[in-house]
Amino acid sequence: AETHYHQFVIQARPVKRLCRTHNTITVNGLFPGPTLEVRDGDTLVIKAINNARYNVTLHWHGVRQLRNPWADGPDHVTQCPIQPGRSYTYRFTIQNQEGTLWWHAHSRWLRATVYGALIIYPKLGSPYPFPMPKKEIPILLGEWWDRNPMDVLRLADFTGAAPNVSDAFTINGQPGDLYRCSSKETVRFPVEAGETILLRIINSALNQQLFFSVANHRLTVVGADAAYTKPFSTSVIMIAPGQTTNVLLKADQTPGRYYMAAHAYNSANAAFDNTTTTAILEYKSAPCNSKKGKASTTPVFPQLPGFNDTNTATAFTAQIKSPSKVNVPTVIDESLFFTVGLGLINCTNPNSPRCQGPNGTRFAASMNNVSFVPPRRNSLMQAYYQGQPGVFTTDFPPVPPVPFDYTGNVSRGLWTPVKATKLYKLKFGARVQIVLQDTSIVTTEDHPMHLHGYHFAVVGSGFGNFNPQTDPAKFNLYDPPIRNTIGTNPGGWVAIRFVADNPGIWLMHCHLDSHLNWGLAMAFLVENGVGRLQSVQPPPLDLPRC
Ligand code: C2O
Repeated sequence: AETHYHQFVIQARPVKRLCRTHNTITVNGLFPGPTLEVRDGDTLVIKAINNARYNVTLHWHGVRQLRNPWADGPDHVTQCPIQPGRSYTYRFTIQNQEGTLWWHAHSRWLRATVYGALIIYPKLGSPYPFPMPKKEIPILLGEWWDRNPMDVLRLADFTGAAPNVSDAFTINGQPGDLYRCSSKETVRFPVEAGETILLRIINSALNQQLFFSVANHRLTVVGADAAYTKPFSTSVIMIAPGQTTNVLLKADQTPGRYYMAAHAYNSANAAFDNTTTTAILEYKSAPCNSKKGKASTTPVFPQLPGFNDTNTATAFTAQIKSPSKVNVPTVIDESLFFTVGLGLINCTNPNSPRCQGPNGTRFAASMNNVSFVPPRRNSLMQAYYQGQPGVFTTDFPPVPPVPFDYTGNVSRGLWTPVKATKLYKLKFGARVQIVLQDTSIVTTEDHPMHLHGYHFAVVGSGFGNFNPQTDPAKFNLYDPPIRNTIGTNPGGWVAIRFVADNPGIWLMHCHLDSHLNWGLAMAFLVENGVGRLQSVQPPPLDLPRC
């Protein structure tokens, strides 16, 4: 195994998109940021130098960080942020994971521009479970705002209203042909007729689930998050923020030019960015008809599902399975039921400029009616490790305080979340099941829920209210997919299982950042076990302090 050393300088750089130049927070001046390539078993040592004017942290999305929460990154959860002018070195080893992951800033909305791919190849000498592709291409789907995303968020924080939706989606940082002033920079992927390429698709958008398709080409799904999947063929994929999907594409069409395109999958009845981002798959042998020998035929456009095509989205996700039998806990020590949804906080003066949410309220979001508030004076993990009291409590409720019909109208009393910093304590080694249920309060949504420090088996999902009598009988305990981010289904639920074998404090949250900002999060405290292999490593000496 190798150790890879990198320096990530976080700095503002002018970036021009949609005819305007912005001072954009980047890593090493790159947008998107650098791609990290490692093999399973390798160690990464990344010195993050903060030359920006914001506090920042970096998160290695999907890396398990066994016994090493110090490298996980969510601000005020596992570390205090790196202040401007300071640095922190993230040091971690990839342990039994292969596939596509990614990294992103995990403080405020900096991840809008601070993100990149993290590619984990198999150990030297071990092959993919599919024929070796000729090429591998990371496809980072993102969102772009005409304004500084940090200002968009700050305004929303002030008014209590929903933040502005993005002005463009992007593929590898570029909006593509359908947006103003963007066609010259449209990303092109050259292919040779007949070859097979592996697309490593990452949804790094802040707030939007996406459909993705390539004109005339079938896609064979072979991986999701950091795990292989049973191959299946599809013309379109749905991918939620945080998720990754590996697909094989065979260049088996008439040599020519084909668009790959992504647009929103939006189950919520709310404003969203309805634009489409494109890149071009370009056969090298495509007929040329311009003087410079550049292919200039208009690319073929793919058919994308309708924005609210929940059936296509859910059917796609449900089709993803592990290649063969996986280890899933069959006996459960902790059976948890978490509601996931939005809420509204009443204002004493509904006409206040700070109460611009629906009917003079402020937006909030919660799990089991607790809206997560990160501490200010310390990080949860540092407070826990130092035994500092008063930073959090461990009384996060295992079930909602009042059960109700999660798909219907509920009385306003149940709408108002309680703001608190509550953790749920798990014994080391506990076998855990969590049912995540969308509440349909304010909006009916497919919340993509991400758990830090773990991956989990997705054993079941459905629409409507979870039924504890009949639904568990239908769980797939044989070949469920192993993921780190999974949607609830709009107005529905999803059930996951894992063994709490990684001590530390681990955030679980909606990967739509507007919801995370409203408090759609909670954290697990997985207690230190006895012995070296069951307890958290000592913190690095340069761990930032608050
Ligand atoms: Cu991809 Cu908590 O993050």
